[in-house]
Amino acid sequence: MRITREDVVSQLLAGASDRPVESADVYAPANIALCKYWGKRCSELNLPVTGSLSLSLGSYGSHLRMSRMTEATTDRVTHNGVALSADTAFVRTLTAYLDLFRAGAYFNIETRNTIPTAAGFASSASGFAAAVRGLDTLMGWALSPQALSSLARLGSGSACRSVYDGLVEWDVGSSEDGMDSFATPLRDQWPDLRIGLLVLTDKTKPIGSRQAMQHTVDTSPLYRAWPETVASDLATIKAAITERSFERLGQAVEGNAMAMHSTMFAARPSVIYWTPETVATITRVRQLRDEGLMVYCTMDAGPNVKLLFLHASQEAIEAAFPDVVVTNAYNGDV
Ligand code: PMV
Repeated sequence: MRITREDVVSQLLAGASDRPVESADVYAPANIALCKYWGKRCSELNLPVTGSLSLSLGSYGSHLRMSRMTEATTDRVTHNGVALSADTAFVRTLTAYLDLFRAGAYFNIETRNTIPTAAGFASSASGFAAAVRGLDTLMGWALSPQALSSLARLGSGSACRSVYDGLVEWDVGSSEDGMDSFATPLRDQWPDLRIGLLVLTDKTKPIGSRQAMQHTVDTSPLYRAWPETVASDLATIKAAITERSFERLGQAVEGNAMAMHSTMFAARPSVIYWTPETVATITRVRQLRDEGLMVYCTMDAGPNVKLLFLHASQEAIEAAFPDVVVTNAYNGDV
């Protein structure tokens, strides 16, 4: 029998308390995967083909205020101060997600992203993690972090990693209902790690990550090699974190992103997020490395490049990339 999102939600909420409050004001950080989640084994429940590992972006993410509306017949969603119409893709996805929890109520939701939105960094991860936190506070569920992570996954896979700060691992799990596929913070954290965001273009992406992911799984002959690549990269990344070996970490992180994009290049037709600016930036990163600066890059389903470096290199990075937005996962308490 096919397991639905509704089944999973009722399981996760079975033991929850019920102490609703007037309104909730919450925050969730965005995250960048150091080892990527790319491909689902179940798209209804957003269950991944492999595990993944990310670093949160500290104060770069989504603030969300949420309350229930009496006598409303639709949700009201405001994003960065602008009321969004019900037929925008974001509102449609969010509304469908809220349908899982609404029990007859409609919600007034105001979100504000601190991450540069126009640049395609506004990943759905922080948005869905904030929505889950908002629901938990508003309904007074007092759920465990594990349950919050599982609920966030139903909204968007990478959102399950955004319910924590710092280095976070999403376990692939093996059960059909996905109850063992949630994220937890790594025991080893690395406070000197930094991610730099580079805004290369504000053009909309040719194809969203959900679609690109499925199309790659369905058509790319190189996708067969992906689970093995991830198994090896995840092990290397975790060992490098424990050993505090930045070079080993950076090589695995950059290699993993390039392997993910290679699966996309080989899809039929191919998915190409890269622009001339992407290539120029990666070339510059390599040049800086040749000159002795320890910096590596990663990319997601878009043309922008994210830099990975250590706090000690921050000044040199800012000199080389004057527009870089440096994020620190460890600004808050991890
Ligand atoms: O969670 P989604 O459906 O937005 O997919 C995220 C996919 C990547 O950003 C490319 C990789 C990742 O692990 O975050």
